[in-house]
Amino acid sequence: MSDTTKLTRRPQWTALEDHRARWTSHLRELFAEDPARAERYTVRVGDLRIDYSKHLVTDETLQLLRELAEATGVAPLRDAMFAGEKINVTEGRAVLHTALRAPRDAVIEVDGENVVPQVHAVLDKMAGFAERIRSGEWTGHTGKRIRNVVNIGIGGSDLGPAMAYEVLRAYTDRALTVRFVSNVDGADLHEATRDLDPAETLFIVASKTFTTIETITNATSARDWLLKGLDGDPKAVARHFVALSTNTEKVTGFGIDVDNMFEFWDWVGGRYSYDSAIGLSLMIAIGPDRFREMLDGFRIVDEHFRDAPAEANAPLILGLLGIWYGNFFGAQTHAVLPYSHYLSKFTAYLQQLDMESNGKSVQRDGEPVEWQTGPVVWGTPGTNGQHAYYQLIHQGTELIPADFIGFANPVAELSDELKAQHDLLMANLFAQGQALAFGKTADEVRAEGVPEEQVAPRTFHGNHPTTTILAGELTPSVLGQLIALYEHKVFVQGAVWNIDSFDQWGVELGKVLAKRVEPALTEGAEVPGLDPSTAALVAAYRELKKV
Ligand code: F6P
Repeated sequence: MSDTTKLTRRPQWTALEDHRARWTSHLRELFAEDPARAERYTVRVGDLRIDYSKHLVTDETLQLLRELAEATGVAPLRDAMFAGEKINVTEGRAVLHTALRAPRDAVIEVDGENVVPQVHAVLDKMAGFAERIRSGEWTGHTGKRIRNVVNIGIGGSDLGPAMAYEVLRAYTDRALTVRFVSNVDGADLHEATRDLDPAETLFIVASKTFTTIETITNATSARDWLLKGLDGDPKAVARHFVALSTNTEKVTGFGIDVDNMFEFWDWVGGRYSYDSAIGLSLMIAIGPDRFREMLDGFRIVDEHFRDAPAEANAPLILGLLGIWYGNFFGAQTHAVLPYSHYLSKFTAYLQQLDMESNGKSVQRDGEPVEWQTGPVVWGTPGTNGQHAYYQLIHQGTELIPADFIGFANPVAELSDELKAQHDLLMANLFAQGQALAFGKTADEVRAEGVPEEQVAPRTFHGNHPTTTILAGELTPSVLGQLIALYEHKVFVQGAVWNIDSFDQWGVELGKVLAKRVEPALTEGAEVPGLDPSTAALVAAYRELKKV
């Protein structure tokens, strides 16, 4: 790679380094000099109001960051993604999660074939099936109505629907029990099924490849559980098992009828897949209309990302802000702190989206990167986090950029008393943003009469950057908007870092080694090539093992 195209030697990069070296401003000064920045640094997309005024940036910073995006070809790569080009270079695949929410009349081609009709055919098939379950028309093997839905999948075949089910609980059919099993620890399936009647239970086996060991193991155990509960009649499987996959051969090999398979395609990455067939459990829970509203929400942000000018392009701005802190301030983590109980699994979902996408250390051509790439993403819903780890964000030694997400209205079904708690919840969100940005000076502490020796521990330096994302209420569309916002933010960062955000080779080695070690645990087999530490652990395990 020539020196002029190497990221850290680009003039736009060194200009940002110089800008950073000169950076001394505190958010207190930035707001004092320019109170209008609150409005100027707010971008509106669909129902989202995204305030990024509490960031360590000026117009000059933002201009320099946009120049970096331009020099690194973010926009052409984005256009190539939307056009179905094979931008997942290491796997030779198109990256078309945006086609999953394209309107019926759109034309998006992969290898000369328009994929949009297939997308809608599967959505229609899912809708028909979801309605039959919801109405009771689809019954189990004994003729009983399906009352329980258990999704078995892992990673992108679990985190998306599991997260979205929690987020949209208020929109779900409360008569249905919907559970998610992912862990190969048998306890997961046990807890999910122990109080269920097999005759009323539908298993959805969700696996893009249909080879993932955890999922196939759990699905096999679930089939045994079902058959045991239904007098061992193998015909029962057809009424109680459906599959979501790209792999017809493996699905039929497992014994699931191809009519009960909901397809998706290799141009949908696992972590970008919950708005594909992988969302079937969610669609059953919330109904096809709500699911389509969610897809509309995704589409609003897709179109915004594709069409909005750089200065007002929310995913671009958020992606570049992350680069500013990661690459020029040394921030290694990014907190996502939703002020909504329903978003309890939101950050866990984003961990896969962001960390599996951008946790890379080689460039698209295989050259090593010489710059920091994806951050550690973490966080839990406020206000719980405030009473746990916010101390470190406020007064620790790490710079931790954070996103706050909140809603003006609680969900409609809460009682009036519980709705009244909402202002307190949101007061905390706004207070935290304020405290992190502006802190509390030593003089302010002294003015309260605090003894001198206690002034330092009670001082808040402030100057901690945060984004606040506010929406009116948490609807299916708003959820779609939020997810697409983060998907495209992750895209922007990967594009600037020149990494392939769509492969995940880093998970392969562990899978291979687990397969190799397993016989040592189950049969005590000699496993050649075990390192001394692992060999000793295996021996200790076998000694302690009771069954
Ligand atoms: O191991 C990582 C991974 O490939 C993820 O990218 C994916 O979401 C998950 O495993 C599950 O894969 P599958 O849907 O093929 O079972």
